Amino acid sequence: MRHFLRDDDLTAAEQAEVLALAATLKAKPFEHQPFAGPHTIAMIFDKPTLRTQASFAAGIAELGGHPLLVEGKLAGIGHRESIADVARVLGRQAAAIVWRTFEQSRIDEMAAYAGVPVVNALTDDFHPCQLLADLLTVQEHKGTLAGLKVAFVGDAACNMGNSWAVAGGLAGMQVVFGCPEGYAPAVGDAPATTDPVAAVTDADVVVTDTWVSMGKEEEAEARKAIFAPYAVTSELMAHAKPDAIVLHCLPAYRGSEISAEVLDGPQSVVWDEAENRRHAQKAILAWLEARRHD
Ligand code: NVA
Repeated sequence: MRHFLRDDDLTAAEQAEVLALAATLKAKPFEHQPFAGPHTIAMIFDKPTLRTQASFAAGIAELGGHPLLVEGKLAGIGHRESIADVARVLGRQAAAIVWRTFEQSRIDEMAAYAGVPVVNALTDDFHPCQLLADLLTVQEHKGTLAGLKVAFVGDAACNMGNSWAVAGGLAGMQVVFGCPEGYAPAVGDAPATTDPVAAVTDADVVVTDTWVSMGKEEEAEARKAIFAPYAVTSELMAHAKPDAIVLHCLPAYRGSEISAEVLDGPQSVVWDEAENRRHAQKAILAWLEARRHD
């Protein structure tokens, strides 16, 4: 039984295999139906969601399955009922469990007791499904991953920074973080600089994310001041390669971490990126299902 709790739950070769499957499923969305029956896949959200819920629900349906939304607040996971008990109950109803939650330890515990594959749909520490979608998007636009320079600018001490550090490294990309002192990723060995221009210079891919991740809302004002020099604007983009693409996992705050001109401009591939969540997540669900008895 395999789970997808963090980006390096896949080896580099497995990541490439899942990305290839995602591209195949994108070309032929209804041809592969490992959850026909339909088998149920449970989705639980302890934090807000739009893309993740929509793309998992649509993708599970395309795989022949039935997406079951378990309301995180009603279930009260971890206080009304222990994570281990929820895992054992849901594992008897569902072929897989998709969970967006807070601490990584919560999803680790779910995986330990579920008896079915568990997929991380964002925790405080990692957002590995988003990274599969991001890598698929880069591959589509650039034709390759290995050797490309990626500049992640802004708050890199969040799930997206950590996931880029790990997944970008697995893909053989040169990931550089442009972030304030103390806001570099907690994992991986990618270089970080406090100079956003140095980070972006000659980049093939420029990535940013909100300065105020879910759960950090009380720090919003302080964060706006800390990250102000790291906004992805046309002036900053002028230092990247002329054909650089821009990624943002969304939701985006135009005028904060990214200007409207860049987000809505010709270098932005954020709508492809949002669509690719579905294809990438179908691929990881199908891939895990095929290894259920390993
Ligand atoms: N870092 C952001 C990602 C949103 C998809 C957050 O955790 O809120």
